Amino acid sequence: MSVILEAKDLTVRFPMPRKSLFAERQHLEAVRSISFQLEKGRTLGIVGESGSGKTTAAMASIRLTGPATGAVEFEGEDLFTLDDEAMRKRRADIQLIFQDPYSSLNPRDRVSHIVQEPLDLLEIGDEASRKARVEELFKLVGLRPDQLNLFPHQFSGGQRQRISIARALATNPKLIVCDEPVSALDVAIQAQILNLLAKLQEELGLSYLFISHDLGVIRQVCDDIAVMYLGRIVEQASRDELFTNPRHPYTQALLAAAPSLARRKSSGAKRPQQLKGDPPSPINPPPGCAFAERCPLAEAVCKQMPPPLENGVACHVANR
Ligand SMILES: Nc1ncnc2c1ncn2[C@@H]1O[C@H](COP(=O)(O)OP(=O)(O)OP(=O)(O)O)[C@@H](O)[C@H]1O
Ligand code: SF4
Ligand SMILES: [Mg+2]
Repeated sequence: MSVILEAKDLTVRFPMPRKSLFAERQHLEAVRSISFQLEKGRTLGIVGESGSGKTTAAMASIRLTGPATGAVEFEGEDLFTLDDEAMRKRRADIQLIFQDPYSSLNPRDRVSHIVQEPLDLLEIGDEASRKARVEELFKLVGLRPDQLNLFPHQFSGGQRQRISIARALATNPKLIVCDEPVSALDVAIQAQILNLLAKLQEELGLSYLFISHDLGVIRQVCDDIAVMYLGRIVEQASRDELFTNPRHPYTQALLAAAPSLARRKSSGAKRPQQLKGDPPSPINPPPGCAFAERCPLAEAVCKQMPPPLENGVACHVANR
C-alpha cells in the first residue's frame, strides 16, 4: 500500500495576544507533535472532543493553517517546502468538505457556478469543458440536471452537502479532507451522505482524512483511526482493533460514553467509567499526560512525564 499523506511531528502553536507590553507572549498549543500516515484509497479518521485539535491538525497537514512545524508529505513531496506556484498546482489534488454546507455555499450564486468555481480558480479546461464537467459531477453525486440553475436555499441540507461534494470533486482530487461532513444532518440523511462518500471512494480511488467527534460515524467509514486529546494523538489503531480493544483510558471513556458502541457484554454491573470534567487549557499544557486529571488509572509518573506514543498508545500504564 502506498502512503498518500504523511505527517511527521506536526505542531501548530498559535501566538496569543500579549497581556501587557512587557509580558512574555504565550502560545496556544493546538497540535502537539503528531505523526500519521494515510494510505492511498483508504480513510483515516480523527476523533476527539471539541477543541482537541482535529481541524487544526487536518488543515495544517494540507498547508491551510499555520504557523506549523514538522513535515508533511503528499505523495512523497514535502508540502511545507513547495513554493506558492507549485502549491497552487497541488491544490487540485486536495479538496475539502465542511460540516455546514450552507455557510460555505454563496447564497447568491447558482449552484452550477458554485460547483464550477474550483475549475475557474485553477484555470482547468475551457468554458465548454467546465460546463460539461459540472453536469457530469451533478450526476455523480445524485443531483438532477434540472437543478443546475437553482440557488443553495432551494435545496435540503443533504442536497447541499451533495453540492459541496460535487464542488470538491470538480478538480478530480486524490485526497478529500472531510471535516464533520454529516454532523449537521439528520441520522437518515447522514447515512445517505456516508454511502455516497463510500461509493465515490470506491469508484474514484479517493483517500479521505475524515474528522468527526461521533464514534458511530467514525466506525462506519474509517479504516484507521487516530484519537486526539489536547493536541496529541493518544491512540492510533485500525478500526477493528480500536473498537474491540480500546487501550487508552480516554478511548475507553469515549466508547463508554457512546452506549450503543460499547462492548455489550460489559454493559452489566461493571459499567466503564464515564468522562468527567474538562481537558486542561491548551495554553501552557501540563508537562505530563494531559489526561491525568480525568484518568481513573493515573499514577504519580503520569503528571511528571508525557507518555510517548508506543505500540499505538500513549499511556504509561497501557504500555507496561
Ligand atoms: N486561528 C486560531 N487562533 C488561535 N487559536 C485557535 C485557532 N484555531 C483553533 N484554535 C484553538 O486551537 C485548539 C484546537 O482547535 P480545533 O478547531 O482544531 O479543534 P477541533 O478538535 O476541530 O474542535 P471542534 O470539534 O470544536 O471542531 C482550540 O483550543 C482552539 O480554540
Ligand atoms: S499516562 Fe497515566 S494519566 Fe495518562 S492515560 Fe495513561 S494512566 Fe492515565
Ligand atoms: Mg473542528
